[in-house]
Amino acid sequence: MSHKQQTIGVLTSGGDAPGMNAAIRAVVRTAADLGHKVKGIMRGFTGLLEEEFIDMDAMSVSDIISRGGTILYTSRCEEFKTEEGQIKGAEICRKYGIDGVVVIGGDGSFRGAEKLAEQGIRTIAVPGTIDLDIACTEYTVGFDTAVNTAMEAADKLRDTAGSHERCNVIEVMGRTAGHIALWCAIANGSEYVLLPETYNEGELDKLIEKVKSKHKIGKKHHIIVNAEGIGDSFEIAKTIERETGIETRATVIGHIQRGGSPTCRDRVYASALGSRAVDLLDQGQTSRVVAYRHGQFTDYSISEAMAMQKTIDPNLDRLIHKLSR
Ligand code: ADP
Ligand code: F6P
Repeated sequence: MSHKQQTIGVLTSGGDAPGMNAAIRAVVRTAADLGHKVKGIMRGFTGLLEEEFIDMDAMSVSDIISRGGTILYTSRCEEFKTEEGQIKGAEICRKYGIDGVVVIGGDGSFRGAEKLAEQGIRTIAVPGTIDLDIACTEYTVGFDTAVNTAMEAADKLRDTAGSHERCNVIEVMGRTAGHIALWCAIANGSEYVLLPETYNEGELDKLIEKVKSKHKIGKKHHIIVNAEGIGDSFEIAKTIERETGIETRATVIGHIQRGGSPTCRDRVYASALGSRAVDLLDQGQTSRVVAYRHGQFTDYSISEAMAMQKTIDPNLDRLIHKLSR
């Protein structure tokens, strides 16, 4: 062990994501390997403020790597957005001897981690969200599983849309980001994708013209992927049916995308990120986010990470246009 023994807290916050358990397991096992103690903080920042902790050791994370969800539970905690909540959180950490906290969650949770660090508790953030909407990293825990779930749903819809010669609009998650929608559309061979990042006023007319012209040359069914940030899939379906005369259905696949056993990639990358987070705490670092970028695992200061802008991958955007002609 390179330093004095630390007590490391670990929590999951915001929307759950498949692979969070693999990250928790890696945090606990890496800490044990380095001779540190771990306290699991239940239900995100809510559990921190309510002093809901469990002592964790290597055995307490057995048999969880293949499970979706998060064994620590998660929440959204309004009180932690206030300065009083953040001061209280830091005081509770000191009361329990917690030296540093690994926060697994999305960009909202990163802000929480940054605020806790400002109150003197060392924090490291792990990007855990199905949305892939964090600019400093090309990978977030849960995206791979979620997008595979979305793709499988779109494939199934293609079967039934084909049998009935219908059009089907499938709405996928992503909050205000279109990464799940874009990847799902490419993987499914969808005819059109609506993305919040590129949506413009004439987009629906363009979509309708495309469906009409494909129909004219003999295409029997049509799959449209709609990102939830655009919304109103049922209205879009009605408009397509009215304007094209093709029977159209809408399907919102919703929270199914957040569940299920994580893919191999989610298990492996979540393990690498969780482990790196503990290495950083072991080295005495704080207010950093672990990431995967340009083919390697790395880390950034949270403030630097939050200042970066995430856009849709222009190569993938061009690809969907080229291949869905
Ligand atoms: P995600 O982490 O998935 O983006 P949220 O945006 O809902 O999800 O954030 C999760 C939690 O992180 C919030 O409920 C809150 O407890 C904490 N949080 C979010 N924003 C802040 C902030 N500005 N300051 C402190 N804590 C925050
Ligand atoms: O951030 C993950 C996510 O699943 C988004 O894709 C979606 O907009 C949101 O969370 C849904 O949140 P809730 O679980 O509160 O319905």
